[in-house]
Amino acid sequence: MDWGLKNRLAKIIRPADDKAVMLAVDHGYFLGPTERLEVPRNTIRPLLRYCDSLMLTRGILRTCVDANFPVPVVLRVSGGTSIIGEDLSNEQITTSLKDAIRVNASALAMSIFVGGKYEHQTIVNLGKLVSEAEEYGIPVLAVTAVGKDMVRDSRYFSLACRIAAEQGAHIVKTYYCENFEEVVNSCPVPIIIAGGKKIPERDALALAYNAIKAGAVGVDMGRNIWQSDYPVPMIKSVRSIVHGHATVDQAYDMFKNLSKESSPQKISKLSASSKKPSELSKKQKKEK
Ligand code: 5RP
Repeated sequence: MDWGLKNRLAKIIRPADDKAVMLAVDHGYFLGPTERLEVPRNTIRPLLRYCDSLMLTRGILRTCVDANFPVPVVLRVSGGTSIIGEDLSNEQITTSLKDAIRVNASALAMSIFVGGKYEHQTIVNLGKLVSEAEEYGIPVLAVTAVGKDMVRDSRYFSLACRIAAEQGAHIVKTYYCENFEEVVNSCPVPIIIAGGKKIPERDALALAYNAIKAGAVGVDMGRNIWQSDYPVPMIKSVRSIVHGHATVDQAYDMFKNLSKESSPQKISKLSASSKKPSELSKKQKKEK
């Protein structure tokens, strides 16, 4: 493997244990100011030191993250749709490779919509992005986006992850499901899992634990960290599972103990007053 590509990948998947804690804060690229990510700087700042890498768009990176802080960046380079638009699968590459290099991205991320209306376009774009990025030694993370009406089982996720890997993705992000080993075993590149919609903390920790046990190399988690009342205790507890071999009980005890010592995060005025996407439109939504 090309030296630069290997070196960048090592910033995302830590060579000490081949595991990864990626913090996802890219949601605004189609959701706008979603709950508890209304002021990204405030959400991101306290969590930065506890993640191995940060996944976000160039706009939020440039405006909300201090360039002096040495966090590896996984740059989302796809977009073009919104939660109230016609079809969320109609994504294109929106950020140039030149810009990705300019912001010193350690990896690029884009979504593919297997089974979606614009499946073809997104898969072809993934192949093209991998070809371009590899010229500069930059790895690509393929995000397997899930439509609202898709059956989320191991058969579907195996299909989506394998297609991403066949196009040359270096890491694939998907969702945990029953028989997750099947998804991992049929995908020749490392898999990380998204957390999905906010669920109780213990359940989110169990999700991370089960995914790692089934062979995922880590998490790319967003809402289950920063929509928790206690984001820092939550990311530390997730970390203890991914890097520290903690069981669900141990991680949850850690969460409870750390929460007792912290104050709950406040709901911003914007969050309290902002309309939920469901109030904006009943059109198709990308369920996470
Ligand atoms: C948005 C994404 C998110 O990064 C991904 O869904 C992870 O975040 P969460 O844990 O909140 O699901 O790819 O398209």
